[in-house]
Amino acid sequence: MKSLCADLVLQRMSGTTDTTLNRKVYESLRAAILDGSLQPLSLLPASRDLARELGMSRNTVVNAYDQLQAEGYVHARVGSGTFVANITPESFLATGRNAIGMDDESASVRFSRRAQSLLANASAAPVQWGAFMPGVPDVTLFPRRQFSRILARLWRSPRPELLTYSHGGGHPALRSAIAEHLRVARSVRCDPDQILVTEGVHQAIDLSMRMLVDPRDTVWVEEPGYWGFHKVLQMGSAVIRPMHVEGDDTGWPHRSKPPRLIFVTPSHQYPLGSVMSLARRRELLDFARSAGSWIVEDDYDSEFRFSGRPIPAMQGLEPNAPVIYIGTFSKTLFPSLRVGYMVLPRALAGSFRTAHADLYREGHAFTHLALAELIEQGHYAAHIRRMRVVYARRRALLVSLILRHLGPEYLDPQASNAGLHLVLRLPDGTDDVAISRAAEVRGVLTRPLSRYYVRTGGTRRGLLLGYACVSDERIEPAFLALKMCLTTLSPISG
Ligand SMILES: Cc1ncc(COP(=O)(O)O)c(C=O)c1O
Repeated sequence: MKSLCADLVLQRMSGTTDTTLNRKVYESLRAAILDGSLQPLSLLPASRDLARELGMSRNTVVNAYDQLQAEGYVHARVGSGTFVANITPESFLATGRNAIGMDDESASVRFSRRAQSLLANASAAPVQWGAFMPGVPDVTLFPRRQFSRILARLWRSPRPELLTYSHGGGHPALRSAIAEHLRVARSVRCDPDQILVTEGVHQAIDLSMRMLVDPRDTVWVEEPGYWGFHKVLQMGSAVIRPMHVEGDDTGWPHRSKPPRLIFVTPSHQYPLGSVMSLARRRELLDFARSAGSWIVEDDYDSEFRFSGRPIPAMQGLEPNAPVIYIGTFSKTLFPSLRVGYMVLPRALAGSFRTAHADLYREGHAFTHLALAELIEQGHYAAHIRRMRVVYARRRALLVSLILRHLGPEYLDPQASNAGLHLVLRLPDGTDDVAISRAAEVRGVLTRPLSRYYVRTGGTRRGLLLGYACVSDERIEPAFLALKMCLTTLSPISG
């Protein structure tokens, strides 16, 4: 049977004006990539197979593939095949989006100013899997057999209350399981009544903002920091004050106007990877108490610490701390599960639960119950233990490549041996956005560090490299492809 790709080429070849066969094949494939018939990152047939289907010599197809690769339309991975590039060379010149990030159809729509700002700086990446996508766990190793067994049993006789709208901040069994897990694994002080199950950290931030921040209220965020915080807070018209992160210290913005919320990642600063000192944690807690502010502690990936003692959560440092603790199953299990949680101070818990049900119309009780069983039966803790070994090994592999090929100055001495990503530091002034784009054309996904700053002046340069979702074998070839872009585009010695 002929592949779709062969059909595409045959249909388009008749319309090309080129005379040589390999130009006709090249033109047909290029046109199919540009109009989206061949999707970004899709795998092309092996040259031998395509040549047979087209009734041509293999050399003709190889020449066409080589030309497409030289121009950045496809990239070849040894042992994996030839893939359509994620970003075509044309998209560097004209993206099909106008200056504020909208496609042509929506250009005439009058969006709110907040929406315009959001669209102009949209940050969520369309492709979320492959070397070196930061923040993504190895979802192929998820304990799917255990989870599907639990789900299949629950589906055999689903109770109606599992299939209707829910109320109460998450299924009680899951709230109990999370509270137990957090008390033991993260030294969080909580009972199930304080737990509110959300659709992930983003929803937890959104709810905190809606409940506690009025337009033009001040909030503090780490600089650099997680873009998700910035996006949600901008939509609430909050005034964002950056807290500069230096080593294990977080700077203080002007304290004359106390913030309503203070967003921090104390156990593993995102994205730099440092751990906030105990002294600064205590200072922040004292300050928040006296100023009437709430600290929002994002403990997104603390389960993955590969050496030294675990860093307990800031929330548990003192009783009744003014801390809203948030966490997620996106990093320990898989992101599309969309389940996260908040641990709320008692004064906030009931009101947040009521608002959560009214604003977002809760659901997913079925998934909650299955997840609770996964935790209670010990599969969750066992999975985390297994993944800790896998990620530690992948991190060590990547670090050794950086040290061998680039040098210790490309790693941050403050970054802890933890998490799903590391930051490859680049010399000041390097265009990390251009390097990240060039790497993407070669099939390597990275995120430029400069994009994680609210303020544009004086940003540090680097690349976030996620090692968790990259197989051991793929780490070295992907790193070498990235190194090629670095030596071409940054002021480093190769
Ligand atoms: C610091 C940080 N917090 C939260 C999240 C997202 O969590 P969720 O998937 O639960 O929204 C991410 C995702 O990369 C993150 O990097």
